[in-house]
Amino acid sequence: MNLTAGQWKDISLEFTVPADHKSVSAIVFHNDGQIQDFTFYLDEVKLQIITPPVKEPVEEPEIKELLKFNFDDKAAQGSLFTAAASSQIEWINETGAGKNDNSALKVTHIDGKSYNSAENAVRLTLAEPLPAGGVYNISVWVYAPAAGNEGKSTLTGPGVVLNGEYGRSDYKLPSNFGTLPIGQWKEVNIRTPLMETPLKTIDIRLVVNDADKHADVWRIDNIVISQVGDLQEVIIPKWDLNLASIADTYKNKFLIGNVMSPGQTTDAELTAMFKHQYNIMTPENDMKPQYLSSAKGVYSYTNADTLVNWAQANNIMIHGHTLVWHSQSAPWLTTGTDNKPLTRTVAKSNLMEYINNVAGHFKGKVVSWDVVNEAFDGGSGIPTDWKTVLRKDSPWYKAYENGADKTKGESGADYIYDAFVLARLADPGATLYYNDYNENEVWKREAMALMAEDLNKKWKTDERNTEPGRLLVEGIGMQAHYWIESLKTDTVDATIARFVQAGVKISVSELDIPSTGTTGKLTKEEEALQAQLYAQLFKIYKKYASSIERITFWGKADSQSWRASGSPLLFDKAFAAKPAYYAVINPEGYLNEDPDNGNTTPPTNTVGSGGEPNSDVKVTIDSSTMNKAISEAEAGTARLTVKAANGAKQLTVTIPADLVKAAKDSNISQIAIVSDLATVTLPISLLDKAGANVEMKIDKVDNSKLSDEQRAKIGTNTVFDFNLSVGGEKITKFGEGQTVHVSVPYTLQSGENPEQIVIYYLSDDGKLEVVKNGRYNADTGLVEFRVEHFSKYAAAFVNVSFGDTASITWAKASINALAARGIIKGESADTFAPNREVTRAEFTQMLIHTLDLVQPNAKSTFSDAKEGSWYYEAVASAQKLGIATGLPDGSFGINSKITRQDMITMVDRALKIAGITLHDEVAAVAFTDDAAIAAYAKEAVADMQKAGIISGMGNGTLAPQQATTRAQAAVMLHQLLQRLL
Ligand code: XIL
Repeated sequence: MNLTAGQWKDISLEFTVPADHKSVSAIVFHNDGQIQDFTFYLDEVKLQIITPPVKEPVEEPEIKELLKFNFDDKAAQGSLFTAAASSQIEWINETGAGKNDNSALKVTHIDGKSYNSAENAVRLTLAEPLPAGGVYNISVWVYAPAAGNEGKSTLTGPGVVLNGEYGRSDYKLPSNFGTLPIGQWKEVNIRTPLMETPLKTIDIRLVVNDADKHADVWRIDNIVISQVGDLQEVIIPKWDLNLASIADTYKNKFLIGNVMSPGQTTDAELTAMFKHQYNIMTPENDMKPQYLSSAKGVYSYTNADTLVNWAQANNIMIHGHTLVWHSQSAPWLTTGTDNKPLTRTVAKSNLMEYINNVAGHFKGKVVSWDVVNEAFDGGSGIPTDWKTVLRKDSPWYKAYENGADKTKGESGADYIYDAFVLARLADPGATLYYNDYNENEVWKREAMALMAEDLNKKWKTDERNTEPGRLLVEGIGMQAHYWIESLKTDTVDATIARFVQAGVKISVSELDIPSTGTTGKLTKEEEALQAQLYAQLFKIYKKYASSIERITFWGKADSQSWRASGSPLLFDKAFAAKPAYYAVINPEGYLNEDPDNGNTTPPTNTVGSGGEPNSDVKVTIDSSTMNKAISEAEAGTARLTVKAANGAKQLTVTIPADLVKAAKDSNISQIAIVSDLATVTLPISLLDKAGANVEMKIDKVDNSKLSDEQRAKIGTNTVFDFNLSVGGEKITKFGEGQTVHVSVPYTLQSGENPEQIVIYYLSDDGKLEVVKNGRYNADTGLVEFRVEHFSKYAAAFVNVSFGDTASITWAKASINALAARGIIKGESADTFAPNREVTRAEFTQMLIHTLDLVQPNAKSTFSDAKEGSWYYEAVASAQKLGIATGLPDGSFGINSKITRQDMITMVDRALKIAGITLHDEVAAVAFTDDAAIAAYAKEAVADMQKAGIISGMGNGTLAPQQATTRAQAAVMLHQLLQRLL
């Protein structure tokens, strides 16, 4: 509807109060076109009821009397009552002693004892607890006679406490207990809340701990307990700690977070759940300006600090949210008492005070900050200048606009750059994010990316920038507040791609997907749809794992969400896992099993299922299977799932040349052949040869054909022979960068430690060689490894154990893992000497073998490296590769100790030389003895710390100059080993 200036217009509107609304209490007349400075007048507003509401008769619940205690019969009821420590009770039968009769229960305070109400309570323990799910009425009559209460005038009123829960306000009733007049019976008449647990005890008490106001003698009579209405179903929410951890599932990909509020920190079950499922926390509200600062110079950190302390005590990282926002802001920052915008100069100095104070307070505690939140609004077309689509009615924008010198290019937009710069200067250790919602809308995605690019460019030449290689806006937070009904996940993919192009990191900062329905309950179909969307999102997130730092869900359970009515999360109000949870844990699996995910062709090429054991299965991939694999490819990997006969002995998969070419033309970089027998993932560069069919054969080898040495180690475990031929030509050795990933099933036997499961390569000359990167994956029951050549491989358990490592629980598994792989040896068969300092030669030996960096025939020029010694090959290899440069006197320091910083530096160099890049797994931490780290070691320390390889001495220090023990070296190299796949 449009208004014409200067003319009255009659508007009328009919509406129905929706059935789920109790009433309408306000009608808002507003300017829908968001026209600035728009004034309008209202007159003669009339409200008429057209159809009166149909009044549903309010049904009074039925009240059923269940129990009655009038103390007429001492034997039958008296024993159910007990007195707490400060009182004694007796059954009395005297004329007029009871409410309507002669009998009652008499309570007498014991001289000298406390008047604490709990200690004077009389407890009724019900013979049969009343069931959970009920609401109960309890009526009790209480009387304080004048005799025995001399000198007291006003006594505190009586009340009851259910199930002894003195800490729960809803179980201490009535909330307003009043007084107990002397010489008059008084009724306590309460209605319990819906009982989540059975009602077992009722404590009858006088409420206040005050001798003058607490009766010394009182009586109880005529207790009546009734049930109100029918029993209802009660859900006692409970977290299931046996569910797979989302954080663990994604530990090599991104951080997984959720929100917290201070009140939740005392809930031990919730804390245990949070630690199990998440590794980073965003305060849902308590770091917003509204809650941190009520006036200039006034800061209240109590609640935020409660969250910070909780997180730190539980080893959970913290993301700060948010420094600058138009909503939930502190008015003094931007707006005068007259409600008008402050000037640019004043707002700027307020911004500086605020950010210095707040970012300063949390410095070193938060790993990252949302510096500016939700600055864009009102765009539609794709902008070329991000400033045009900013939220112009943000109080920050308005204040910065007030006094901006337009001739110098100043505008309301400038608060954003200032905020980022101030945050960088106040806490250089924190990663700085811009955070926004509706981020998948094309105009907004573009605006966000353009802004990041623009501000980062500006920062490059800003003289305050002391870290030339570092961006100012380092990350973009995608709030990801979606809707089941409207989310199109391909727009998410495109958005991430745009942000990657802008060169920033990405976090999914506030993920939830509610339904627009408001019943507070999803239908089965909606639940399935929601799960599908979560699965699709996580498939996309995994694809971009190298750019995504963190995924934070905005709420733990549906009932606790800010969008609770749409049931947006992974866990329901009973805290039970919804389909969405399983979709997040295993997105591919969820989508494959879900019949409604849009796939019409079956996902597997099924051959010979139920066939003969020991059969020989041959499969040729057809074009529809390949096309489907191409269209569903993730991260460039097309998966061909082949169902071989149960117990098949041999599987041969042929991929026709044209299908290999089709895959290559579709930018597929790897083809995975997935089967129950084994899964091999082959780089396409290995397969693609014009006109050549690919044949991959997986054979189970007859163990009697092994050499004695091989059989001694492998036993009866399955030995696989992998044979690949392209165009009929057998390929045994792969080229540079062409490693093949393999996984084979392995069943752990009792007593077998997973870290001692090793993969052997069995050479044709009867020898064995450990594949260092091989490891057992407890989640899948598969042993995974990566190889540079084919032929025979087998998994086996290697039993090593040293008598002197048992008490070193933090290092024992690592020592065993390395020993099982032959990377380290004990001093004898039974002793490892974990606490002895490792020598430079020993460490070099360990490192070179962990990373398989032996350089055959390398020569060393170090003065003390003896040819033919056990360490020579490793030291010479390290020298040749530039991993170790030796000591200033030209020696290597064979028997010298190695400092922790030298060890770290060597590892860092070795990794670079081996071409291995580790992902950042933990936030950067500054060690308290940072100053003691030598300049040459600084970068390596930072790299290794972020990659999770080192974590310091446990007290905040790194102890860079300290010598390394054999146990410490083993732990570090084991950390490394686990990241080699
Ligand atoms: C929400 C909280 O979840 C609510 O408890 C609070 O009442 C309002 O704010 N975008 C954001 C978050 O950046 O801070 C908002 O959080 C949700 C939208």
